[in-house]
Amino acid sequence: MTLFHTASGSGTPLVLLHAFPFSNEMWQPQFGLAGYQLLLPDFPGFGKTDPDPDMTIDSMADAVARLLDELNVAQPVVLGGCSMGGYVALAFARNHGRRLRGLLLSDTKAEPDDDKAKAVRNKVIDAAPTLTAAALMEDMIPKVLGTTTRDSRPLVVEEVRQIGAAQQVAGIVAAQKAMRDRADARPWLKDIRVPTLVVVGEEDAITPPAAAKALADGIRGSTLVTIPAAGHLPNLETPDEFNRVVGEWLART
Ligand code: MLT
Repeated sequence: MTLFHTASGSGTPLVLLHAFPFSNEMWQPQFGLAGYQLLLPDFPGFGKTDPDPDMTIDSMADAVARLLDELNVAQPVVLGGCSMGGYVALAFARNHGRRLRGLLLSDTKAEPDDDKAKAVRNKVIDAAPTLTAAALMEDMIPKVLGTTTRDSRPLVVEEVRQIGAAQQVAGIVAAQKAMRDRADARPWLKDIRVPTLVVVGEEDAITPPAAAKALADGIRGSTLVTIPAAGHLPNLETPDEFNRVVGEWLART
């Protein structure tokens, strides 16, 4: 599994892993983070990477490690992930921890799916023959964006809709299976020894601030920041504040 990626800038490698059901395009506003070599992979079945029906959260983390090998990135990287990207970042921390120098976890959580969450995913998987990414996005907009964004940032709503609607059903289904079957990351949080920033949108309905607090509480010395007036995608909803918080943390890391 080779991951397509976009690269920009120079400096310490900063790898950002996208959320579901998006692509590396969701990190467009982070091109302003100066002083870093931004590496933005597309997971299988998203953006420009071919689908892999058998992918798991662990295999996605392995693919990120292989991408670093292919790019001859030997130095430790700062790895960031939003939501599904955060699940992969946590798997990377367990399986490839020596390659990390910092961890940025945005709007994600360590606990696995409960039965209700698995059932919701199975409904999406079962609907695959008639599912379209555009229809899925219509369902997801109210959950993925905060009320402030939905009420007052129509361009962001449109951008998020367009990125999501452009994805392949094969990728959506494979990602739902991978997330449904992901491991409970709580047992290895205590082994994470790199500087970690946990960020959460105050209006995040998918991984609410309480989930972010539980995650941060599990990682020794981590910093937790709540971003006002943002939902599940603060890097897109309130990019200036997100970049300020992340930029200040990166400067200390
Ligand atoms: C995401 O934003 O990546 C997903 O909502 C995460 C999930 O479905 O658990």
